[in-house]
Amino acid sequence: MTHPVVPAIVNLDVPGPVISRHLYGHFAEHLGRCVYGGFYVGEDSDLPNAGGIRLDVVAALRALDIPNLRWPGGCFADEYHWMDGIGPKEQRPSMVNTHWGNVEENNHFGTHEFMELCELLGAEPYISGNVGSGTVREMSDWVEYLTRDGDSPMVRLRRANGRERPWRVRFWGLGNEAWGCGGHMRAEQYAAEARRYGTYCRDHGGNTLYRIAAGANGADYAWTETLMKQLGDLGCAYRPAPFMQALSFHYYTIPGTWQDKGAATVFDTGDHYRTMVQAARVDELITGHSNVMDCYDPGRNVGLVLDEWGTWWNVEPGTNPGFLHQQNTMRDALVASVHFDVFHRHAGRLVMANIAQTVNVLQAMILTDPDTGALVLTPTYHVFEMNKGHQDAASLRVDLPAGTPERAVGDARLATVSMSASRKDGRALFSLSNLDADEPAEVELDLRGGALTEVSARILTAGRLQDHNTPDAPEAVAPRPYEVAATRAGLRVHLPARSFVTVTGRLAGSDT
Ligand code: AHR
Repeated sequence: MTHPVVPAIVNLDVPGPVISRHLYGHFAEHLGRCVYGGFYVGEDSDLPNAGGIRLDVVAALRALDIPNLRWPGGCFADEYHWMDGIGPKEQRPSMVNTHWGNVEENNHFGTHEFMELCELLGAEPYISGNVGSGTVREMSDWVEYLTRDGDSPMVRLRRANGRERPWRVRFWGLGNEAWGCGGHMRAEQYAAEARRYGTYCRDHGGNTLYRIAAGANGADYAWTETLMKQLGDLGCAYRPAPFMQALSFHYYTIPGTWQDKGAATVFDTGDHYRTMVQAARVDELITGHSNVMDCYDPGRNVGLVLDEWGTWWNVEPGTNPGFLHQQNTMRDALVASVHFDVFHRHAGRLVMANIAQTVNVLQAMILTDPDTGALVLTPTYHVFEMNKGHQDAASLRVDLPAGTPERAVGDARLATVSMSASRKDGRALFSLSNLDADEPAEVELDLRGGALTEVSARILTAGRLQDHNTPDAPEAVAPRPYEVAATRAGLRVHLPARSFVTVTGRLAGSDT
């Protein structure tokens, strides 16, 4: 039986922009069971924990080399008042989490607990400050509390709460979705707010903030243009304008409507292809925002951050609609692998991306059972793990002289084979996805400018796109060792239908 053959040319000796490890970033919101019951189970839990932080969750995420963690939201960030989350837990005031389930938030997981979590994970904190319902002073004090050394009111408060040394916090979000839950602002209005907030979020001592302005919804390029015009002035070398170092945008993969997004595990092949078309659209969006930014910032000093991405399905039947709890299948894994290929291609402008969200919410890495506590790694987790060698690697361009197989999906065309490559520390890593539900494909990798030795491969695939992991079948979708064939020009990689394959090898004669 013949399969479509996809020729792919990679020049191993022509490194492109470095793929920031922060493209593999994460997101933990006070939403459903992400923080409470996910990351944080409390000191009294029977589950092994450190100060209430669940240790098997930490261990699983450390295996991904997670580079950063965004917190406390999301929409929650713009109603979070950080001072409610410090000091003795029994004295912390409660609030209502109006965005997510109208549940009571007791503030037991606050600033110190989050910074402790980041230290356990070995991840950089990315804090989203409150612009929507907070004040400039409140945000400015938070930065001082976290990052200032010496003596000051906020430093004394931090020390009274048990932390002597300042933390290092680089990534700082100036609000979230200011066009929506973050205050329903117009772009001009938000830009003016962000100039004020950005000004008073100070760099204390040796801590230099990387301020990220709350950006566009999907393809709202006008929002990006307004921020570039009104916040993008960088000043000059001796007096830099410190308002923002990056701007963000959010894009979720939703093949249905907001009212009926589709079920995570119950879908047909048509739904699958519509999902893949929506996932691949992230390329168009990053290109669009980058093009606008290039007009105002051709030197690429301002970073683009996609700090919320992933699939968003209807919640699992019987769960709280405000908790956004969803299953995760082989289809979700392919959504992730396609996103990463796109991210790698845009490494010159895209500096960070955060999947929404890490535990128990939306396209999670980890699902935990609310009754038994059982922990399951999702198919998406495995894509992050198989791809982690791309972090901080030099991207390698993949040329497809004959294109890839395609499918017509409504008015759109879906390229069903997706690829990216990189090199780091004398090794090359190739990621290859076959999005086709039924047809295998063969990729003929023509490797130029070098050769590979010690080649090994792994595959993530499933009998059905709907397959997923559960406490009873935790490895239903898990990576397995795989064989690829050496050819005169390079490698031949057989891609079964609905599969994700990574291939790595040592670059002969190279130590970089
Ligand atoms: O990730 C869930 C929500 O999606 C976030 O709180 C919000 O920023 C976005 O609309």
